[in-house]
Amino acid sequence: MWALLFLAAVLPLVAQPDHTGKVALGKKLFFDARLSADGAVSCATCHDPKRAFADGRILSAGVFGRVGDRHSPSLVGRGFGASQFWDGRAATLEEQVVEPIRNPKEMDMTVEQVVARLRTDYVGLTAESLALALASYVRTIRSTDSPLDRFLSGSGGGLSGIELEGLRLFRDKARCYLCHSGNQLTDELFHNTGVAWREGRLRDEGRARITGKTYHLGAFKTPTLREIAGTAPYMHDGSIATLEEAIEFYDRGGRANPYLDPDIQPLHLAAAEKRALLAFLRALSGVVREGL
Ligand code: HEC
Ligand code: HEC
Repeated sequence: MWALLFLAAVLPLVAQPDHTGKVALGKKLFFDARLSADGAVSCATCHDPKRAFADGRILSAGVFGRVGDRHSPSLVGRGFGASQFWDGRAATLEEQVVEPIRNPKEMDMTVEQVVARLRTDYVGLTAESLALALASYVRTIRSTDSPLDRFLSGSGGGLSGIELEGLRLFRDKARCYLCHSGNQLTDELFHNTGVAWREGRLRDEGRARITGKTYHLGAFKTPTLREIAGTAPYMHDGSIATLEEAIEFYDRGGRANPYLDPDIQPLHLAAAEKRALLAFLRALSGVVREGL
C-alpha cells in the first residue's frame, strides 16, 4: 500500500546500453578541470561524488575562488527532473550542462573555447556532443538501495519502527509529502517556504525572476530528499546547516512573508515526533550509483 502512495514505478533512468560511448565521455568531461578558465574547477568540484554530487559549502565556489549566488544542489535523480536549477530556468539537462561552463562565477569559458582546448584529447568533440555527453552522464546519477527503497520493494531490511513512524508523520501531520512527493520525493514544482525572506524583503526572487509572476516570488524548486543526510548544508542559499534545523524551520511554519505557500503551516510537532521524522529522513540514504 505504501508503495502505491510513493508512485514507486521507477522510470528506466539508464535504459539503453551506451553504444555510442556518450555516458563514458560525459563522465570524463564531468571530472575534467580543463572545462574551466583557471584549469582548477570541474563539475565535480561543486558536485562531489562523495557528497551525493552536492558540496559542503554554503555558496558554491568557482574559478579563481569566485563565490556564487546559490548553494550547489545534489545531482541524484536529476534525470527525472521536469526542469533544472533552483528556479527551473533550464528546460532540459542538455541545456543546463553548458550553463556552468559559461557562468563567470563557475567555469567562465565559452563552449567553443572548451572544445578547442580539448579537441586533441577528445577526438571529434563538438559543442553538441559535449552537451549530449554531459547530460547523458548526469542522467545516470541516482540513489538506490536506501531503507525506504528496501521497504517499498519488500526485499527485506526496510524501515525500523521509528523510521516508519517518521514516514507516517512525513505523509500526514508534518505535511512534507505535499511537496516532497513521488519516487524522488519532489513534485518538481516551485514553492515559497520563506527561506529567501530576510529583514522584510526577498534576498532572491527565485522562480519569479524567470516567469515574472508575483506568485513565484521567493519560490524555489522542491529538491529531492534522497541522500539528504549526506548533503548539508541545505536550501538554495545553504542557510540551514543540519536536518534538525530544517525540521525546526518547518515546525515554525517556515518564515512568514507575503508570498508564503499556503501548504506551509506551523506543525506543533512533539520532541518524539521530530526525532521520528529525522530518523525517516536519514533512512533516505542508500548507495549513489553513476555510469552504467
Ligand atoms: C562553481 C560550482 C559549480 C560548478 C563548477 C558546476 N555546478 Fe552545477 N550547480 C551549481 C549551483 C550553485 C547550482 C544551482 C544554481 C541555480 O539553481 O541557480 C547548480 C545546478 C546544477 C544542476 C541542476 C540541478 C537541479 O537540482 O536542478 C545540474 C544538473 C548541474 N548543476 C550540473 C553541472 C554540470 C554537468 C557541471 C559541469 C559542466 C556543473 N554543474 C558545474 C554549482 C556548480
Ligand atoms: C510547500 C512545499 C513544501 C513542503 C510542505 C515541505 N517542503 Fe521541504 N522544501 C520545499 C522547497 C521549495 C525547498 C527548497 C526551498 C529553498 O531552498 O528556498 C525545500 C527544501 C527542503 C530541504 C532541503 C533540501 C536540500 O537539498 O537543500 C529539506 C531537508 C526539506 N525541504 C525537508 C522537508 C520536510 C522534512 C518537510 C515536512 C516537515 C518539508 N520539507 C515540507 C518544499 C516543501
